[in-house]
Amino acid sequence: MRKRLMVVFSGAGLSAESGLPTFRAADGLWENQRVEDVATPEGFNRDPKLVLEFYAARLKACRAAAPNAAHLAISRLQDRYDVVNFTQNVDDLLERAGCTHVYHLHGSLFRRRCTACEYVGDQSVPVAIGDSCPQCAAQLRPDVVWFGEGVRMPPRTKIARMISQMVTNLGVFICIGTSLQVYPAARLVTDFARVRRKYVINPEPVRPSGFTLLQGPAASQMVALADALERGDCL
Ligand code: OAD
Repeated sequence: MRKRLMVVFSGAGLSAESGLPTFRAADGLWENQRVEDVATPEGFNRDPKLVLEFYAARLKACRAAAPNAAHLAISRLQDRYDVVNFTQNVDDLLERAGCTHVYHLHGSLFRRRCTACEYVGDQSVPVAIGDSCPQCAAQLRPDVVWFGEGVRMPPRTKIARMISQMVTNLGVFICIGTSLQVYPAARLVTDFARVRRKYVINPEPVRPSGFTLLQGPAASQMVALADALERGDCL
């Protein structure tokens, strides 16, 4: 029998209990750095060394972290659902938990790309000043999406197909650990409005209309939701 489709849209809160801090929009700081200094193209042009060191530290922290119970619960649901993950996270914790279908909308700490041409490559060591593109010799940079840059969304037709499959086949849409503020969060929430079973997991009372709010940390809430879905219950 064909499995039902589940789309999981995640943000920094999913990895918080793995020890990877969320981006704090309120004070505009991320790991004690001003966001505009370390997560914008202008910041990189001003001080590339600072930015490269910042992302080298993020890569190191990511390697030292392990998937938490929320990542593992999402992975476990693959036995019952076709799970497609759209994540804003640049870590690899979903993949390390065993998730096989992950779109990184904001890029990945494990890839590098050229500042001048289209080159993108995997990386096991972080980019440093002087690391040059194998195609055009320009400076390389992490393949993460900074503020003001384009998000890596799947084609609209693919998303439309997913939505109609979920509407007709009682699919499930879960938003977990995201403030739902940065594009394309708000757009996805609207796109998936027709899906009946929709959940938001967040310690804060974030609740787009039509969603069931499971208020609390990702790990305990996601495990409870996965248990319920496996039993065939609706929370
Ligand atoms: P944010 O840091 O904006 O939001 C994190 C969300 O996680 C907040 O809503 C928190 O309430 C929630 N949260 C915190 N701890 C949690 C926990 N233990 N369990 C569940 N939820 C928890 O992160 P994103 O929504 O991912 O972009 O932000 C999107 C983008 O803004 C990021 O990818 C990054 C950031 O700037 C760029 O760098 C371009």
